[in-house]
Amino acid sequence: MEKAQDVFKKLISHCKEYGYIFQSSEIYDGLSAVYDYGPYGSELKNNIKNYWWSSMVKLHENIVGIDSAIFMHPTIWKASGHVDAFNDPMIDNKDSKKRYRADTLIEDFIANKIDKKINKEVEKARKRFGESFDEAEFISTNPRVVANTEKKQGIMAAFTKAMEEDDMEALKAVIVDNGIVCPESGSREWTDVRQFNLMFATKMGAIAEGADTIYLRPETAQGIFVNFLNVQKTTRQKIPFGIAQIGKAFRNEIVARQFIFRMREFEQMEMQFFVRPGTEMEWYEKWKETRMNWHKAVSPDAKLKFHDHDNLAHYANAAVDIEFEFPFGFKELEGIHSRTDFDLKSHQEHSNKKLHYFDPEINDSYIPYVVETSIGVDRMFLAIMSNALQDEEVLDAKGNKTTRVVLRIHPALAPVKVAILPLVKKDEALTGKAREIFNKLKFSFNCQYDEKDAIGKRYRRQDAIGTPYCITIDQQTIDDNTVTLRDRDSMEQIRIAIDALEEHIADKLDMRALLA
Ligand code: GAP
Repeated sequence: MEKAQDVFKKLISHCKEYGYIFQSSEIYDGLSAVYDYGPYGSELKNNIKNYWWSSMVKLHENIVGIDSAIFMHPTIWKASGHVDAFNDPMIDNKDSKKRYRADTLIEDFIANKIDKKINKEVEKARKRFGESFDEAEFISTNPRVVANTEKKQGIMAAFTKAMEEDDMEALKAVIVDNGIVCPESGSREWTDVRQFNLMFATKMGAIAEGADTIYLRPETAQGIFVNFLNVQKTTRQKIPFGIAQIGKAFRNEIVARQFIFRMREFEQMEMQFFVRPGTEMEWYEKWKETRMNWHKAVSPDAKLKFHDHDNLAHYANAAVDIEFEFPFGFKELEGIHSRTDFDLKSHQEHSNKKLHYFDPEINDSYIPYVVETSIGVDRMFLAIMSNALQDEEVLDAKGNKTTRVVLRIHPALAPVKVAILPLVKKDEALTGKAREIFNKLKFSFNCQYDEKDAIGKRYRRQDAIGTPYCITIDQQTIDDNTVTLRDRDSMEQIRIAIDALEEHIADKLDMRALLA
């Protein structure tokens, strides 16, 4: 089996080679953790956003959308807690000069050193004992496993306490006491741990009270909170109702690795659902299920799981991640948070504006509670690409085994829906007919016309782009107005009348299949 690292490298180069993603400012040697989307990437990104927006706004009478500004009043970030608490603990290695997040360093140590040892013992024993193997019994009695489990629990306890108490000295002690080394140099020479605020600051003329520092928003959610009453009043929504938004967010991540998984400029799709206090857990469960189904519709065979948060953020009374198995392991794809009335209450205090909702059903007014669903567009993009890119063994025209690279993106999300290919470039009857078909279908689907290279090569290129259908125009087309229609996934080819094409392929390409 191919190593996970190699699979990921292949994915990154495929994204570049086929015009999905380019490093930002590449001709200037790039800008770390910032990326540009190419012609196919921007189409896929738009389709992902459209799928999310339709599933939220179009399908729910009680969810409406907004598009708030990136720049906001600086006090908003004080009220939200970002100025004081949106920090990551940072540590440098003195020898390698590499910078790390202290918490990630500890988590990686646990996963790579302790968990791996435990799993190795368990797998060895499973092989030795065969069917009679009792895993729970083994884990609780094997001396080496017990010792490692106790060690892990000790580290976790000290780590959690240090994080909860914001105690940077204690956090450094966890690293030093456990002999955690720099993954790059193997050195144990660490600086002190310092808190690092992740917001990008910039200057804007004079704002309130002489302050001139404003921030690039680190999440889109606050634009929704501060517009809560504007939206509720103008759309006459009654609780429960939601506000959805798609937009850019910026975080000065200490360590931004893993391609578009962790970026400094990225895009979020967030929905805040405003509910009556006391009903939030019911809605939290409902949104967990709804969001998981949304993911499964796109990639039914993908590995997805829930991961409850151990440490809750300052604003939440419940939080869960939907994790996806990326080539580098299970990681957060989306967060679902029960945010209580923290944000609205805090904005009410800081702005001195009442943010109450009068509930006619109970004849009372209150600050609503909020259940949030929050997903990164780029992370969803990476999940889709990771799941879709496959090397497949197939037979060539002569019956020899060969490998085709195919992007099995859900047809409704695929950037190009139909490729129109005249069999021979030099035959004007064929190219003319192909253009005619292109001009007919382009109003319904994103089409691509391609006449360069042999037909087999063109099919492979469309497979690699992820185009669900190829239409080939040949001599028979001129005689009887039929074409060959090739399916990306099965590679099956059928003969079909030009007049029947649109109806035949429309169903599979329609977003409704996903939304239903
Ligand atoms: N409003 C809540 C919020 O922003 P979060 O867990 O910090 O919560 C939500 O972020 C989602 O945004 C994540 O699940 C992830 O998909 C995406 N995200 C967060 N930071 C990101 C980054 N640096 N690069 C790409 N996507 C990111």
